Amino acid sequence: MVSVIVRDTEIDQMQTAILVIGIFENERDFFASKRLDSTIFAAIIELIENNEFKRDIGSNMIFHMIGKGLVKKIMLMGLGKREKFTYENARIIAGKAALKAKELGVEEFCILPFIDVDEMLIEAISEGVLLSLYSFNRYKTSGKESTTIPARVTIVVGSDSAKFQSVVDKVNLITQAVNYARDLGNLPPNDCPPSQMANFALALEEYGIKTRILDRYEMESIGLNGIVSVGKGSSNPPKLVILEYHGNAEHQKPYLLVGKAVTFDTGGISLKPGDKMDEMKFDKCGGCSVLGIVKAIASLGLQVNVVGIIPSVENMPSSSSYRPGDIIRMYNGKTVEILNTDAEGRIILADAMAYGVAIFNPQAIIDLATLTGACVIALGANVAAAIGTNKYLAERLRKVSEKTGEKIWDLPLHDEYHEQIKSTVADIKNIGGRPGGAITAAAFLSNFTNDIPWLHLDIAGTAWTQEGTFERSYNPKGATGFGVRTLVKFLMEASNK
Ligand code: BES
Ligand code: MN
Ligand code: ZN
Repeated sequence: MVSVIVRDTEIDQMQTAILVIGIFENERDFFASKRLDSTIFAAIIELIENNEFKRDIGSNMIFHMIGKGLVKKIMLMGLGKREKFTYENARIIAGKAALKAKELGVEEFCILPFIDVDEMLIEAISEGVLLSLYSFNRYKTSGKESTTIPARVTIVVGSDSAKFQSVVDKVNLITQAVNYARDLGNLPPNDCPPSQMANFALALEEYGIKTRILDRYEMESIGLNGIVSVGKGSSNPPKLVILEYHGNAEHQKPYLLVGKAVTFDTGGISLKPGDKMDEMKFDKCGGCSVLGIVKAIASLGLQVNVVGIIPSVENMPSSSSYRPGDIIRMYNGKTVEILNTDAEGRIILADAMAYGVAIFNPQAIIDLATLTGACVIALGANVAAAIGTNKYLAERLRKVSEKTGEKIWDLPLHDEYHEQIKSTVADIKNIGGRPGGAITAAAFLSNFTNDIPWLHLDIAGTAWTQEGTFERSYNPKGATGFGVRTLVKFLMEASNK
């Protein structure tokens, strides 16, 4: 476990294995340079004047302080041009410094903040550190004993360390939830069937969350036929996970979060081609993010009511699978003609949303799902699509995402898209053809929201690192936990606390 500490001790008294210092291009002064030990300052100035350290963004240099000074090594990080510097840069650079420190095998290191300190900067730096040091190595039987992960990271500020420490304490809880979502997302499909997703949800009762699991037969008996149909092809039966967090007065309508958790998506009878099919273990990431979000808001004690619903299935081909041509009567009574069993996410989400609307009467619905390959074609692997029925909700979430660096971008949902999913034999069909595939999937879902403000986040490109992913220090390979930080921040803003 890594812990981040904020301290405002005298900088020239700091004792550390590595001191991380950021410097802007074309500048020689840097944060707190005046208060630094003069031998360190002189060494850095010499490097700059000899043009040995260019300071463009991403560049870095490590050198030893010879002698018996309190600082053993200096790690210089280039910050690029000052006017272009963002909090996202701070997150990336802090993450990079943490990874370098890990490479060097130190147990602790110190960071001087790169610019004038405020809460957003402290948040970004601590996020960068805590997210970049994540690794998924539980299946490795060798090689992991030899890596030391820094246990203590100190951010040295000038004053107000108590205020900034409370920011870091929150970041700690939130990044733990992100890393938890990553851990679940990274699990191989043989170790994470729907029943295991349910077990993870039950374990959250420890945080005061009320958890209920519906099994296949209960779902059948109340008409959740969409989830049952998709799940019945696998010998690992489907589960519906329902999490309730009550942080606010009883009469306050909850936010409903719905997360797709297909523990493995083969496509079913409409079998996927083999290439990269292994990546479909990440088809549960929406559900994993919802588990992470609920865990975070409970550990933060937010004053808000939240219901999380996670339909979990394994989409397999077998003699008991649902088929192209089937017509399903969904939970809300609408009928769906199945034309492709690989468009399974929308079916299980639709049932889960209709159920959530009927039972919990939410004030707003947000769903997270690795829903369409078309989303990756439209926006690439670094931006999630946001599609919904309420401008205000979309706007609020987009603003929050600008702060977290989890990029989302709106796609439209005009009436024309609904035409593409009209069926000749049922109310709607489960595919709308190639044009606008991410949007017609959302158009499908909108049939199950009962006009409650709703926003769908298609995280097919961003839920894990894949072809086209921009490398960021704080997103190690595998599941990213996308959406956890943004939705927790969104709910913090909605909370009275
Ligand atoms: N889980 C996939 C979406 C997906 C595919 C995400 C590849 C990331 C990478 C989803 O269930 C799916 O298979 N969607 C189909 C829908 C199509 C059959 C209309 C797709 O996108 O190809
Ligand atoms: Mn599919
Ligand atoms: Zn899927």
